[in-house]
This record gives sequence, structure tokens and C-alpha cells, in this order.
Amino acid sequence: MPEKVLITGGAGFIGSNFVHQTVRARPGTQVTVLDALTYAGDARSLSPVADQIRFVEGDISDAGLVDELVGAHDLVVHFAAESHNDNSLVDPWPFVQTNLIGTYTLLESVRRHRKRFHHISTDEVYGDLELDEDRRFDEESRYDPSSPYSSTKAGSDMLVHAWARSFGVHATLSNCSNNYGPYQHVEKFIPRQITNLLDGVRPKLYGDGLNVRDWIHVHDHNAAVWRIIDEGQAGSTYLIGADGEASNLDVVRGLLQIFGRPTDDFDHVRDRPGHDRRYAIDASRLRSELGWAPRYTDFLSGLEATVEWYRDNEEWWRPAKAATEQKYAASGQA
Ligand code: NAD
Ligand code: DAU
Repeated sequence: MPEKVLITGGAGFIGSNFVHQTVRARPGTQVTVLDALTYAGDARSLSPVADQIRFVEGDISDAGLVDELVGAHDLVVHFAAESHNDNSLVDPWPFVQTNLIGTYTLLESVRRHRKRFHHISTDEVYGDLELDEDRRFDEESRYDPSSPYSSTKAGSDMLVHAWARSFGVHATLSNCSNNYGPYQHVEKFIPRQITNLLDGVRPKLYGDGLNVRDWIHVHDHNAAVWRIIDEGQAGSTYLIGADGEASNLDVVRGLLQIFGRPTDDFDHVRDRPGHDRRYAIDASRLRSELGWAPRYTDFLSGLEATVEWYRDNEEWWRPAKAATEQKYAASGQA
């Protein structure tokens, strides 16, 4: 079991949950978080474990800082990224900078120091599926990204594969479907609609609302990541998903039901350009080779718990809400 773990992007949604889980479930592990605290990072997401970790504010493209930190750790778990598709359509540059140059900078350092690397990626690198297609993404699926976000994530995956093959870097990769749970930024679909409903505002559905996402609770994603780090084959990719396909319309209806509101009490707004239609993951390899299984299998109860978290933690999300909605208003999505 690695003792000193450097977690990039540990002040973001999935990374902060990963830090909490690691501190709780793996006592003795020394955790350092490297995070630039962009608009998406929030040091308060780490407050419950602040005295049990080291936090370094910095950029993954800062080669000097990265080299010093990587040299002092056994394992790097790389979550840091620009992660929001809508932002990548407004300004792709930060996505190129962080997702490509940042990942390159980390890879050069783990190569130099011969350290273990786990790369967090997304199912979006495979493009999208038709609604009625009898196919899901698996480890053999062809890369075919649609957006600036997903294309930079695809590029970062390619860098990891090349560094593993050409330089023998001991790396594993995981490509996961859509996460939900606590500490997710209010720009993302589920927290945006929950906080709208808490504010008495109607949920906003892009286009016809029939796009499908394959939802997984963030704790299940992170448990799978540790399983892959512990037991995954070097150089290999594992897809992570929990058979959670649902249309955006169904998710909104589920939330309206939780809030006791009529299930047609939402607005259709301008669609996302190039909007991927459907994602779906076949996680058979992860289940059969590594024995992983999700624990959050009832999506509606997971949603209810997430609604409760946002209800109880308004001081966490409130500061970002108005600016986020202004951004959506400017692009006709409010
Ligand atoms: P997020 O946007 O909530 O968090 C990203 C974190 O990275 C933030 O704390 C931010 O400050 C930090 N960061 C950004 N640029 C940085 C830089 N240059 N240097 C250091 N830190 C920087 O993202 P998330 O939703 O938690 O996603 C985390 C990872 O998981 C990403 O790699 C994303 O591609 C991947 N992923 C996300 C999902 C999902 O549903 N959210 C699904 C599959 C994979
Ligand atoms: O599939 C994994 C990916 O999931 C991750 O790689 C990304 O980092 C993560 O952001 C997420 O990408 P999506 O684009 O699928 O997530 P988002 O929350 O932005 O949108 C989910 C769906 O909801 C998508 O079909 C767009 C739609 N949507 C989104 C918003 C913000 C709406 O209908 N209304 C909205 O207000």
C-alpha cells in the first residue's frame, strides 16, 4: 500500500471526496493535495480533514513545484483538470493548458522519479452513442471526442499511454461516467437544478432533455479508483460505471418529485452546441478482474441524499451561485 500520496485537484468535486475517503479508510497514508484553487476548487471542501493532510496551492504546469512534490511521494493520483464542457465552448485555452500541458508536466516528473501514476479520465473520450443503440463503451472502444473538454482529456489519456509504453512509467488509467454527490460545483447539471429548486427557480433542461448520462455516485467512483491503484495492471485502462443510465428529463422529474413539485415544472433552454446524445459504460472488466461493485445502486435515494447535502450546506454553494447563473444567462441557458 503506497504511503505518500500526492493528489492533484484534491480541492475539486471528485478529488475532495477522494481525499476524505482516503483519510478515513487508509489510516497511515500521508496525503498531500496540489490544487491551483481555480473557480472550481474550494479549500473549504477539505476542511473536515484539514489537520490530517498537507495542502499546497499551485499549478500542475509548474514544473519546479511538481518535481519537488512528486519526488517526495510514492504515488500521484491525478484528478486536476478543467472539467466543464460548457466552459470549454466559451474558452478552450485553459483546457489545453491544464489538461494537456499539466498532465505532460506530471508525466515528465513521474518518469524522472520513477513514481506510480494514476490518471483520472472520462467516458467522454469515446464520443457519444445513439439513444436506441445496443452498445456501451468498453476498454476497446475507439476514441472519438466531441468537445474541447473531451478532446483535451483524450489527448491527456494518449500522453499517459505513450509514457507508459515508451518510457515504462508505471501508470494506470480510469475512464468514468457522470458523477454526482456532495461538493459538486453548482455549474454542473444536478447541483444546478437542486440549487435552483432550493431558490424556487425552475430547473433548466438543454434542448429536448432526452440526452442520456450514466450516473454513478462519487463514492463508488473513488472506491473503484483505489481498487485499480491497488490491483490494476500497469499500463491498463479500466472503465468505471454503475449501470445508471437516465435521461436528463428523468433526472429533473426525479428532483421535482423529491421537492414535491409538479413534474412538468421546468424550462427548456438553448441546447449545448455539439451536445453528446448518450453515454453508457460497460464496466465488466472492473467487476470481473478486480471484483469491484457499486454500493449506491438506488439512484433516487442517492439523489435524495444529495439534495439533503445541498440543503444542509448552503454556505458552501451560495457564493458561486449568482456568478454561475449570470454565465448561463449570457449564453441563453438560464
Ligand atoms: P472539478 O472541476 O470539480 O475540480 C477540478 C479541480 O482541479 C479543482 O479543484 C481545480 O482548482 C483544480 N485545478 C484545475 N486546474 C488546475 C491546475 N492547472 N493545477 C492544479 N489544480 C487545478 O472537477 P471534477 O468534476 O472533480 O473532475 C475531476 C477529474 O475527474 C477530472 O480529471 C475530470 O475530467 C474527471 N472526471 C469527472 C467526471 C464528473 O462527472 N465530474 C466524470 C469522469 C471523470
Ligand atoms: O461523462 C463524464 C463527464 O460528465 C465528465 O467528464 C465531465 O467532467 C462532467 O462535467 C460531466 O460532463 P457532462 O457534460 O455530461 O455534465 P453536465 O453536468 O455539464 O451535464 C449533464 C447533462 O445535463 C448534459 O446532457 C447537459 C445537461 N444539462 C446541463 C446543465 C448544466 C442540462 O440539461 N441543463 C443544465 O443546466
